[in-house]
Amino acid sequence: MADISSGIPVGSKVALITGGSRGMGLAMVKRFQKDGYRVATCATSLENAQKSGADFAFACDVSKRDQVKAGIAAVIQALGRLDVLVNNAGLAGTNQLDPSDDDSFWEQIIDVNLNGSYYMAKYALPHLPDRSGRIIHIASVLALKGVPDQTAYCAAKHGVLGFTRALAHFTAPRGITVNVICPGWTRTDMAFQRFGELGMTEESLKSGVPLGRFIEPEEIAAAVAYLASDAASGITGQSLTIDGGVLA
Ligand SMILES: NC(=O)c1ccc[n+]([C@@H]2O[C@H](COP(=O)([O-])OP(=O)(O)OC[C@H]3O[C@@H](n4cnc5c(N)ncnc54)[C@H](OP(=O)(O)O)[C@@H]3O)[C@@H](O)[C@H]2O)c1
Repeated sequence: MADISSGIPVGSKVALITGGSRGMGLAMVKRFQKDGYRVATCATSLENAQKSGADFAFACDVSKRDQVKAGIAAVIQALGRLDVLVNNAGLAGTNQLDPSDDDSFWEQIIDVNLNGSYYMAKYALPHLPDRSGRIIHIASVLALKGVPDQTAYCAAKHGVLGFTRALAHFTAPRGITVNVICPGWTRTDMAFQRFGELGMTEESLKSGVPLGRFIEPEEIAAAVAYLASDAASGITGQSLTIDGGVLA
């Protein structure tokens, strides 16, 4: 059997998880620390990022190229290496499609969700080790279907899926894998804000989920941990939907 071990002990690996202050990102920080990684994270402020308890926390608006570039350099300086990048930071919201001249919300949603993942990947890639480097994107079921009031978010997350597939080909010669997780309703601030926008409750929305429940952030973190592991070294360019069966 081919040797799929990276030969690098988990204890010396470093994972950078964007948006680790709360929600899924926080669950990922905890999971990766439990698995033995040293973990870096960022959020929109240093105070927020430090709430994660990560080994290295920094402020970084992922939609700003210069902040991402400086943030990756700071991670390398603080922790010495980078093995796993998880592009988790995201922003959702209803955007209007009307003939006004204000496109700022559309641009912000594309900037944070799509351009942020691109900037992070671009500046992380030179540091990721050949054969064992990993990039994992967090998209959404809205990378796979559309809804009428979130055209920007759907476009951005479909873009993340396309970026994943193309980047997987780009990094394959180095043995670096790139995959994407597409969560459905997951119990975080983002989901609860969306219930408010829809004027619905968790209870009523759960009835549309075949498993009859929402996903816990820790379940997303477990899938990310698997994709980061040596066991997943043959998986690249793939999307994994975790939605309780909604899209089945
Ligand atoms: N929850 C769901 O049902 C669901 C479903 C499908 C996909 N997703 C996706 O899953 C990922 C995690 O979402 P979540 O539910 O955990 O969201 P959340 O609870 O709203 O947390 C969002 C995280 O992203 C950070 N963030 C937001 N904008 C940022 C920016 N410009 N620069 C850096 N960090 C930024 C936030 O930092 P601050 O604390 O500083 O604001 C926070 O840490 C997102 O990509 C989201 O689109 C969520």
